[in-house]
Amino acid sequence: MANGLTILGISGSLRAKSFNTFALRAAAELAPKDVRIVHADISDLPLYNEDMRAAGYPAPAERLRGQVRTADGVLLVSPEYNYSVPGVLKNAIDWVSRPPDPPFSGKPAGIMGASNGLFGTARGQHHLRQVCQAVNLLVMARPEVMIPKAGEKFDADGRVIDAHTHDVIVRFMAALADWVRRFRA
Ligand code: FNR
Repeated sequence: MANGLTILGISGSLRAKSFNTFALRAAAELAPKDVRIVHADISDLPLYNEDMRAAGYPAPAERLRGQVRTADGVLLVSPEYNYSVPGVLKNAIDWVSRPPDPPFSGKPAGIMGASNGLFGTARGQHHLRQVCQAVNLLVMARPEVMIPKAGEKFDADGRVIDAHTHDVIVRFMAALADWVRRFRA
């Protein structure tokens, strides 16, 4: 998009009916018109191995690094696993974090999360913010999106069926677009 924004969306869950992937899709649909969300596929990334990197980035890692590099911003939508960041997402972040020219550094970002529990990934999001600090992803502080009891907020096809959740995502995506635009100026 010439004047629009491209935001790379990464779901922290590989599950086919993932509530977080549902939330990422909803974010794409409810984003301002000039925002395009590109969904990253992190399912084929190997486990991070420094020997492998030294021999040359594997194709899935190189692809993800390129997608981050060309995006105006990043949207991480992730469950909380054992109060923290799921391994698949941390692994993806680790692949993108390394030299040359670490692609996350200086990129604006947003975080959302959905869980079946009452806290909507609140604890995991704090850990994720800490990781983002390490790779110099510039995460918008507010608004926060923590979707609790996610099973009640989406239908079987992943559509948002809860009015409050719908409105929260609309507000979040408008704020994220403003946040990302600030860094492009
Ligand atoms: C969970 N779940 C979970 N929920 C939570 O609120 N806090 C937690 O610490 C955890 N820990 C956790 C660990 C592991 C290994 C799994 C598989 C699950 C439950 C989690 O919120 C639920 O499975 C969500 O549906 C996962 O997100 P997706 O896959 O629907 O996006």
